[in-house]
Amino acid sequence: MATVVPAAATSVQTTARTQTIQQLDWPALQQQVATCRACKLCESRKNTVFGVGNPQADWLIVGEAPGSEEDKRAEPFVGPAGKLLDNMLGSIGLTRQENVFIANVLKCRPPQNRDPDPYEVAQCEPFLLRQIELIQPKIIVALGRFAAQSLTKSDARIGSLRGRVHQYHGLPLIITYHPAYLLRNLPDKARAWEDLCLARRTFGGLL
Ligand code: URA
Repeated sequence: MATVVPAAATSVQTTARTQTIQQLDWPALQQQVATCRACKLCESRKNTVFGVGNPQADWLIVGEAPGSEEDKRAEPFVGPAGKLLDNMLGSIGLTRQENVFIANVLKCRPPQNRDPDPYEVAQCEPFLLRQIELIQPKIIVALGRFAAQSLTKSDARIGSLRGRVHQYHGLPLIITYHPAYLLRNLPDKARAWEDLCLARRTFGGLL
């Protein structure tokens, strides 16, 4: 007969895990992510995708989850969407090597690129929060509906979330379209440009 774990015990385990993650330094956090087995995505992933960029960056860019290429190469935003993201960052004077860190809500690829499920997001969230505590960015930019809804804890459409400054754990959060979406919807590039300008103005106002 299957052992039933009481809900209270599961939540105690979850709290203990979160508390452990909250105390990790950068290399230990990388190691925890690389060996994480907290949800079933660990069974189908090739690699975890911790993130890329400057771990002391002022800008944190947050996408949804690794896709197939990212899963193979253990790096976020590679391929055409990554190229567009680099161009978008370049348009406001940023590069992934120097002044941004790029991470995802999920560190593992959901099979067939399906939407992440709430349990997966909850298990991965402590990793993103610890990344934020260690990087200490000044501003966060969320890319696409899924990241936007996860960070704002809302189910509003991206069209209604973008265009204003939100807060995420005390940091200004700007929402824009996902570069993969922009590749298919060129007219929205103008709106994404407005979002980047809002981000740049918001960042400028913090200095
Ligand atoms: N889409 C994302 O949201 N993140 C990636 O890393 C790649 C594609």
